[in-house]
Amino acid sequence: MPTLFLNATQVVTCAGPARARRGAEMRDMGVLRNAAVAVDGATIVAVGPQDEICRTYPNAEEVDCAGAVLTPGLVDSHTHGIFGKPRHEEQELRASGVGYMEIAKQGGGIHGSVRDLRTRSEDELLELAIPRLRRLASYGTTTVELKSGYGLTVEDELKSLRVIRRLADAVPLRVVPTFLGAHEIPLEYRSAPRTREEYIGLVINEMLPQVVAGKLARFADVFCEPGVYTTDESRRILGAARAAGLAIKLHADELETSGAAELAAEIGAVSADHLAAISDAGIAALAASGTVATLLPGTMLFLGRVKQAPARTLLDAGAAIALATDFNPGTSPTVNFPLILTLAVSQLRLTVAEAVVAATVNGAAALGISAETGQLAPGMSADIALFEMEDVRELPYWYGDRRCLRTWARGIACHDANGGDTFPNSLRDRSL
Ligand code: NIG
Ligand code: FE
Repeated sequence: MPTLFLNATQVVTCAGPARARRGAEMRDMGVLRNAAVAVDGATIVAVGPQDEICRTYPNAEEVDCAGAVLTPGLVDSHTHGIFGKPRHEEQELRASGVGYMEIAKQGGGIHGSVRDLRTRSEDELLELAIPRLRRLASYGTTTVELKSGYGLTVEDELKSLRVIRRLADAVPLRVVPTFLGAHEIPLEYRSAPRTREEYIGLVINEMLPQVVAGKLARFADVFCEPGVYTTDESRRILGAARAAGLAIKLHADELETSGAAELAAEIGAVSADHLAAISDAGIAALAASGTVATLLPGTMLFLGRVKQAPARTLLDAGAAIALATDFNPGTSPTVNFPLILTLAVSQLRLTVAEAVVAATVNGAAALGISAETGQLAPGMSADIALFEMEDVRELPYWYGDRRCLRTWARGIACHDANGGDTFPNSLRDRSL
């Protein structure tokens, strides 16, 4: 029997073509009043005037939205949620003047998370990840991309991806897995007798085939950054990944300009992520390409860096922008997606509509699933969020607050601020 979502003050649909919205297209988020949404099973079957919907489905079940705002569930298209312990000590180090890359050179940063993850079992990592995803969901997220990248051995990368697969089966959220074996050059390949070239060979010839054979990832990603992977190395790794059947993403121009955005456009990456140090040529290349520019303003905020990605210039050039949390233990330990919308409006100078489209439709496009989610429209998956507010412009406004009342993913209750959702608390809640 269908379920009707009734009595929302606003229904924000983001309805339109099932692809990334670019430039001026992002200014329309489709705000309806006196509207309702009808869901049948896992799918949205109608969105329109409430009286019409009620007439069409007379015996339906009802969800009373009680004057709150209904939106598409948020699509967090960039996270590194599979890790062990937090890295809070690095925050103070940076405050005292030691830079992110300096910490990495001293064997901390990503290397610290790698040392830690290698000591942990698959079950332990799963146990740590479940409550993190629960928290992500509690802020309005219904789709989350999760990367490996803190293992950096064949077994530890596969272990991380197996955790992601088990999570995808265990939680009601939609989960998209990404292989990030090229997140760093591991310390043991930085001095003789081993070489970075050997590690790149391991990623291409050992890890990739096993990831693909096990169907453990949809995307491959590389941290392309001076001091980490060069653009040439990234091109080789991602070329191999694409040839093996994975779609590709790239951590591009995060801290220093390297031409990574141009590379992403050239090789047909689905998204180029970060871009705080993108060049003018990079902006032009992305605007002329189908690659989504995924901006992660929480990362620059947390690192204490003043320069954010040039979002307005990208948009005005006609690029497609997505927003994401970059949730990870080093540079962005936040699960609060609406806070990222606050930064998008107040720091990146997006309009609220641009920010909402970037967090829904364009997040889905950055994951290659814009035909499935990101909109409240007939045929789309019933991935829905309900926020305690009367106007969607309050979403970035109450910054840091948690206004999300309920979410549904594929029509299943995912988060409920008053209890009653289906999210497991731990491994023990289900046989995972
Ligand atoms: O997106 N830049 C590379 N990866 C993460 C940071 C990972 C870490 O510091 O643990 C990022 O910022
Ligand atoms: Fe990242």
